[in-house]
Amino acid sequence: MRLDKFLCENGCGTRSQVKQLVKQGRVCVDGIPCKAADLKIDETKAVVTLDGRELVYTKFVYYMFHKPAGCVSATKDEHDKTVLDYIREEDKKADLFPVGRLDKDTEGLLLLTNDGALAHNLLSPKKHVPKTYFVQIKDPLSSEKKKMLEEGVDIGEEKMTLPAKVDVLKENEILLTISEGKFHQVKRMLSAVGNEVLYLKRLSMGSLKLDENLKAGEYRALTGEEIKELC
Ligand code: URA
Repeated sequence: MRLDKFLCENGCGTRSQVKQLVKQGRVCVDGIPCKAADLKIDETKAVVTLDGRELVYTKFVYYMFHKPAGCVSATKDEHDKTVLDYIREEDKKADLFPVGRLDKDTEGLLLLTNDGALAHNLLSPKKHVPKTYFVQIKDPLSSEKKKMLEEGVDIGEEKMTLPAKVDVLKENEILLTISEGKFHQVKRMLSAVGNEVLYLKRLSMGSLKLDENLKAGEYRALTGEEIKELC
């Protein structure tokens, strides 16, 4: 792999930025300052440092992010903070993106990765990956409305929503598990039964559960076990 590509993939900057870093002599390969951005390196063996800090090559990264309200599920935005604004420079990778979307005001579990194939699998409508949300609702849910949510409701799509699981925690708090990912789905489902979502937080996606130790705005790398279970 070319040195400049390696540096880009390790989140050191854009192609032109990393070329500058190399020109400035800040990059060493196997202990020797390297001035050629197009140098071919064996990324699995070469010891590459930037300003003396070793860059360890990992093709894919997987971060569990506790999305706070006010952050948009995008990598670029003119007005709002994006998920990437919460990621430390050294953890950034080219092509890091959020797997799916949560609304700006929704909190909770969002997986960030640069592994397109895994993201595709998790988001594929055919896979029916279950997602569990903690939902604060405006009005208590009658058993009749609960049954409607569980059986499927009309949210203005071609088909009714797929069967969902509803656990009533308190009068105005439920856990809702759905296996689709339509735009604003939870809000539209509650609206379809004459209710309203006041607060929404995603707790899990497939086998992945939001780590309770992560505060809103924090993230951590997935463990090997978590990655294996997701694949
Ligand atoms: N359903 C919604 O309505 N909003 C989200 O952010 C996620 C699911």
